[in-house]
Amino acid sequence: MTAPKLSKPLHIAIVMDGNGRWASKRFLPRIAGHKQGVDTLKKIVHACPPRGVTALTVFAFSSENWNRPTDEVTGLMDILALAIAREVPNLRKEGVQIRFLGERANLSLRVKKGLEEAEAATVSNTSLILNVCFNYGGRWDIASAAARLAANGTEITEESLSNELALTHCGDPDLIIRTGNEKRLSNFLLWQAAYAELYFTDLLWPDFDESALDAALHEFASRQRRFGKTPDQVADRSAKTVERQAPC
Ligand code: IPE
Ligand code: IPE
Ligand code: MG
Repeated sequence: MTAPKLSKPLHIAIVMDGNGRWASKRFLPRIAGHKQGVDTLKKIVHACPPRGVTALTVFAFSSENWNRPTDEVTGLMDILALAIAREVPNLRKEGVQIRFLGERANLSLRVKKGLEEAEAATVSNTSLILNVCFNYGGRWDIASAAARLAANGTEITEESLSNELALTHCGDPDLIIRTGNEKRLSNFLLWQAAYAELYFTDLLWPDFDESALDAALHEFASRQRRFGKTPDQVADRSAKTVERQAPC
């Protein structure tokens, strides 16, 4: 029996890795790579709706990235603040709803205000949900969700915990892409990655583009997602073409 054709991924998540190496290869400061990375993100956001993607979740700054040199951390905060200020009008024009996932308590007042304003300005947009994981870690996500449930006296089950996680408005990603030739999750979406298809590319994030995205989508289309079933079961079930719900 041949593998059934897969629908396209509705929700893609990306570990945008390789900015520093992209800059070093050009004898530029690492921060130049991060700036170039913002341009790549703009291109990929633009490329999602025509490809049927309704949610894009990107890893921009991890809980562990505080361990980097102070000037790089400060530079990343500045790039975020600047990118938000510059890009909100474009996001509005393109119908993109932006949301920030991660711990905000230890961000500066300026950055926090920027995140809140960008979210408020795009809240009613529907063409794409862009989740930017900033000061995010999968362990933080799970531990803080569990702590909230415990504080409310709610029983901790898979369902109640899932509903408390930062990405609950979108559901789990179908496809996780990591650029930069590393094969690890680095504390990204640990819970939500349970059944995502994983795709790794050598390309450094600033070099990733629409054709690289298409290559990932092509690879996704060749996979059979079984969720524990046998290949034949999946093939039979998909013959009845069960329509999937959009994640957002
Ligand atoms: C990813 O690129 C961006 C962040 C982690 C903020 P890196 O800065 O990790 O780039 P490499 O891996 O050092 O090349
Ligand atoms: C993961 O990249 C975090 C982001 C892309 C924001 P890192 O470059 O920080 O990951 P490690 O340290 O190589 O695992
Ligand atoms: Mg890296």
